[in-house]
Amino acid sequence: MFDSCSEQMVAMRRVWRFPARADRLAAMEGVETAAATEAQVRAIWEERWGGLIVSLYREFVAADVEGLVVASEGEEAALVTWHVDGDSAEIVSLDALIPGQGYGSTALAAAEDLLRARGVRRLWLTTTNDNAAAIAVYLRGGWRLVAVHLDHMDRVRARKPAVPLIGENGLALCDAWELEKRLR
Ligand SMILES: CC(C)(COP(=O)(O)OP(=O)(O)OC[C@H]1O[C@@H](n2cnc3c(N)ncnc32)[C@H](O)[C@@H]1OP(=O)(O)O)[C@@H](O)C(=O)NCCC(=O)NCCS
Repeated sequence: MFDSCSEQMVAMRRVWRFPARADRLAAMEGVETAAATEAQVRAIWEERWGGLIVSLYREFVAADVEGLVVASEGEEAALVTWHVDGDSAEIVSLDALIPGQGYGSTALAAAEDLLRARGVRRLWLTTTNDNAAAIAVYLRGGWRLVAVHLDHMDRVRARKPAVPLIGENGLALCDAWELEKRLR
């Protein structure tokens, strides 16, 4: 028995598949993690995010972030980027270029390790209310929902008119979910 949810979550992470799977993949031959170049971030963001990420409090272009690329047999498999502010950092983007094979989780876990070693104590990010795949990855990784920003996507659409009204799973694309993870 646990005295608190936080203790229980720490214990559950040991049995959830996410960390074990990410660790296994990271140890696999042919899978490598390297610092992302600005050109890599720019190319991937251009293709997948229209070159610009509109977050809660500011916008980001490739030059504003650092990141890691996970490669499999030399092929880019996932990109994670972040922006550090004191002892907290925002995960600005996470993309699996080879989806559904654990590369997204692996990239996120690698970024967490790197940022923890740098002294970052709080990670946060936003995802959208329709994004079940991303939400599954984050919750399994020990992230927790801390706020819902209603209608944030209207503000995003004002800057990026190509963002649709209907998102994944046929859901109205409306809200930003803010998640955080405390690093120990
Ligand atoms: C979110 C994203 C990075 C996940 O990366 P990925 O490499 O495909 O994910 P992984 O393979 O590491 O893990 C996926 C896990 O989520 C589960 N999952 C996937 N889609 C799901 C869904 N709709 N509902 C519930 N679980 C789902 C998978 O079953 C898998 O679990 P498993 O390890 O037990 O099999 C990827 O889907 C992506 O690039 N999406 C587009 C960009 C994006 O939305 N990024 C997030 C911005 S906040």
